[in-house]
Amino acid sequence: PLTTQVNQQDCLEIGGCDVTELVKTYGSPLYILDEVTLRTACRQYREAMHAYYSGESQVIYASKAWNCLAICAIVASEGLGVDVASGGELYTALKAGVSPDRIYFHGNNKSYAELKMAVEAGCQIVVDNYLELQTLTQLSEGAAAPVSILLRVTPGIECHTHDYIRTGQIDSKFGFDPNQLETVFRWIADHDCLNCMGLHAHIGSQIFELNPHRDLANVMLDWTRKASDVGLSITQINVGGGLGIRYTESDDPPSITEWVKQVAEAVTTAWNAAQLPLPKLLCEPGRSIVGPACVTAYTLGSRKEVPGLRTYLAVDGGMSDNARPITYQSVYRAVIANRMSAPPTQTATIAGKHCESGDILIQSAQLPATEPGDILVVMGTGAYNYSMASNYNRLTRSAAVLVNSQTAELIVQRETYEDLIRCDRLPSRIAPTL
Ligand code: LLP
Repeated sequence: PLTTQVNQQDCLEIGGCDVTELVKTYGSPLYILDEVTLRTACRQYREAMHAYYSGESQVIYASKAWNCLAICAIVASEGLGVDVASGGELYTALKAGVSPDRIYFHGNNKSYAELKMAVEAGCQIVVDNYLELQTLTQLSEGAAAPVSILLRVTPGIECHTHDYIRTGQIDSKFGFDPNQLETVFRWIADHDCLNCMGLHAHIGSQIFELNPHRDLANVMLDWTRKASDVGLSITQINVGGGLGIRYTESDDPPSITEWVKQVAEAVTTAWNAAQLPLPKLLCEPGRSIVGPACVTAYTLGSRKEVPGLRTYLAVDGGMSDNARPITYQSVYRAVIANRMSAPPTQTATIAGKHCESGDILIQSAQLPATEPGDILVVMGTGAYNYSMASNYNRLTRSAAVLVNSQTAELIVQRETYEDLIRCDRLPSRIAPTL
């Protein structure tokens, strides 16, 4: 999906921009986000929804994958809603101009202040638990209009992915247990200030199977019927996100179109069989929208040979700009942007610069001969890289540029050392002695 080419200088270009030139201008590590790829993914989701689902639908970008002003604005301009999972993500989406009626607020422990902010903004709230239901009831009793909610339910559907990113199993921390639903439905039916539009379930992330969504549709139909037993009409079904992407050659995920088709058909079949009108179908992809659209460019530095064992090549970032390898043993692939046609002659372990032995970005990369100063580009870093970035070892968080038609524009500026101490305060007893 990412459109790259190699120019006459044998350098990698993305969006018509030479990656080595971008690093000269903006420094490294640098996130390089291709606008065309990002917009194409948004369109594929929307077009597939229109092609395969005859009811109403809304694709919602799960902004936890990468939340910043530019990305919220771009996905919204493609007609997508935005899923936010904290006051900070909500704030960013609102500041980016996303319409509140297209914002869905998630989280298993939203604070009172966050809920109040969401109610006042007029966005949809995906209610996760009883405490939240009670708080929202209080907040909405004084409000001018009923608060629009969806209920997140744990579907009890297992799938094959990393344990940390599986969310559908019944002992998950997220959502109501299906056994609690009847009580929850009754509570809502008794409180006019709550407008329960729909049900939500999310199975997990980086999933390559299509079957779980068939099961999910049936489970959600079951809950919809339970709701109607107490007089509640469920008109929206949100099936979450989860479509995996290709990080390495051996990954073979379904396409966006295949995924949407499967989901749409599963819901259509279940609802038709039950002779119910089709619900509005919502889905919430994050990774598959932004993941493939971005690469991270690093500058190579030191090299360490461990005779007979390994060659370490160190880059100027690491677990602070991409926490996924150390957190989930995620696998990435890389190229040397200034030697695109050189044949691979070494197997190297790409190490970050943090004070941790585990700070390894790639265990075993096949690369051409390299020198310090070469530009190493890690592919597919759009999802859960910037959004999980840290200042570990007081590294400044990296800049991000948006590339399109041979132009590049900064969308996140690099932090400065000043930024690092912006929130630091010296205790008054110590300050005068400095
Ligand atoms: N909806 C809900 C309620 C979610 O919890 C998530 C992801 C999504 C949608 C989007 O899922 P996606 O389409 O991106 O798979 N940090 C981990 C991934 C955590 C996913 C959390 N929830 C990683 O780097 O792999």
